[in-house]
Amino acid sequence: MSPRKVIIDTDPGQDDAVALLLALASPEDINVLGITCVAGNVPLALTSKNALMICELAGKVDVPVYAGCDRPLGRELVTAEHVHGETGLNGPVLPDPEMALQSGNAVDFIIETLRREKPGAVTLCALGPLTNLAKALKKAPDIADRVQEIVLMGGAYFEVGNITPTAEFNIYVDPQAADIVFKSGIFIVVMSLDVTHKALVTNARNEAFRALGTPVGKAVADMTDFFERFDKEKYDSEGAPLHDPCVTAYLIDPELFSGRHVNVEIETQSELTMGMTVVDWWDVTDRPSNALFMGDIDADGFFALLTDRLARL
Ligand code: RIB
Ligand code: CA
Repeated sequence: MSPRKVIIDTDPGQDDAVALLLALASPEDINVLGITCVAGNVPLALTSKNALMICELAGKVDVPVYAGCDRPLGRELVTAEHVHGETGLNGPVLPDPEMALQSGNAVDFIIETLRREKPGAVTLCALGPLTNLAKALKKAPDIADRVQEIVLMGGAYFEVGNITPTAEFNIYVDPQAADIVFKSGIFIVVMSLDVTHKALVTNARNEAFRALGTPVGKAVADMTDFFERFDKEKYDSEGAPLHDPCVTAYLIDPELFSGRHVNVEIETQSELTMGMTVVDWWDVTDRPSNALFMGDIDADGFFALLTDRLARL
């Protein structure tokens, strides 16, 4: 089967970095048409620079990288240096990128790519706030019918919020954008905290990265050593949840995951629950299903795939 054509929208972030490395290590499964960067974990200038550094770390300097929106559609930007560090990629020591960003804007790249490719040929993968995707849908409503599906990391239901009591970070940063995306009519696979909190990088799993003995293996282990301190302290867990790689792993082996087709709507009115993903898990409304909301993962299989693919870089 030919590799799936994807655009990866991202706010690197250590877990975004691992998701990008997994995608770039898997050309037989994933054809990365481009990487589009958005403000989220850290400001846009840093998420864009980090994306370039990750492409160079992977030795994939021909992947076009675009900068997109530097703030949410209608709210002040909230960032997460307390989790990811000042640069967003704290942990490894990586050289400044020699690669340059593409001159165009990420939003226009998304629109032009979807209009150029056959309808249904391109999957949008979103690893950060949904600002770029929402802006593209607002600017070019015709592209909605041309997207194969959206696979995104975001939201939570049984796991509740990680940035507020009710909201997950990516959705919370730009709830208006998330509302546009979830009402777009495009089918969405949601890798929520319900599933990503079961993808924990235990010491053994992180040592398997380091044991690869490669610059990529070391960098990923160093990223995780830094990234996990926040979640381990907050949740008293065995390790950091590897949120974003669940998205790219799904593209390679969807059988690693299981979930339920449900309706998901986004809270955009109340500040108390702003950005909450309101999931009709028990089908108690007449709201149509718009998402496959993942709740479970074969964690051992996920980490085996991830380690195996990272060994290629
Ligand atoms: O809530 C976790 C999500 O927010 C991940 O995508 C992480 O990278 C941050 O963007
Ligand atoms: Ca992210």
